[in-house]
Amino acid sequence: MSISNNNSPIGFFDSGVGGLTVLRRFKDALPNENIVFFGDNAHVPYGEKSKEQLIEYSKDILKFFRSKGCKAVVMACNTTSSLIYDDIKELYNFELYPVVQSVAKVLAGLSVTKLGVFATKATIKSLAYPREINKYNPNIEVIGQYCPDWVKIVENNSINQNVDIIKKDLDLMMAKNPQKIVLGCTHYPYLLSVLSKFAPEDMFIDPSETFVEYIKRDLNSKNLLNRNPNKPTEEFYVSANPRQFRDSARLFYSLNQDPILIKF
Ligand code: DGL
Repeated sequence: MSISNNNSPIGFFDSGVGGLTVLRRFKDALPNENIVFFGDNAHVPYGEKSKEQLIEYSKDILKFFRSKGCKAVVMACNTTSSLIYDDIKELYNFELYPVVQSVAKVLAGLSVTKLGVFATKATIKSLAYPREINKYNPNIEVIGQYCPDWVKIVENNSINQNVDIIKKDLDLMMAKNPQKIVLGCTHYPYLLSVLSKFAPEDMFIDPSETFVEYIKRDLNSKNLLNRNPNKPTEEFYVSANPRQFRDSARLFYSLNQDPILIKF
């Protein structure tokens, strides 16, 4: 086990390539940071898993990040942020950043009264989005809808073959007249080019931009940013299908080589 310092890496995790939508923005905002990414694609989709299963997976992942000496860990996954952040936040002494809780204040400040949220079944059922947003602004009605196939479509790299499914889910949401729609699953920004064929692109909010700004501010305030001018390191790990991960990731992140397969 190593002791962390400013040069230590930041861990990112998700059930698969979704977390890369956060990592992409993070690297743009903080190019100097060393990172370790873990995609738990042996267990995708997280949105169909129980709280107990998610706790078990996340404990293994956090232990792995600890062995890597991480100074902070980004939960680049709405589902684990919504369901188990409170259960795991005290486990290790690195900073732990959950997406939903970190962006709720900014979403609550939008000038809308009806806000749609697309997310996984588990995230929607947890009611984390309305709970966190209404803490800051009780006047926003949050309309949640889950999209059972979207994560699989992204992981399988089969977006163009499934435009009808994506459109059907979008039509259901649009019928409820939201003023904006939050992409409350980190896999969903991969579908933006399809979604924006059927609704104005500025309807959709990818919270990762706000999330990354939050993390940057917080790391800075805790004096945890990397000041080392050396070229930063990037390590990618998955729990299944390294080649498929690399192919499906392409829209957001081009990996020089397949990620490393590890089993806990
Ligand atoms: N990308 C994750 C999220 O933001 C998990 C999706 C899944 O595996 O169901 O919720």
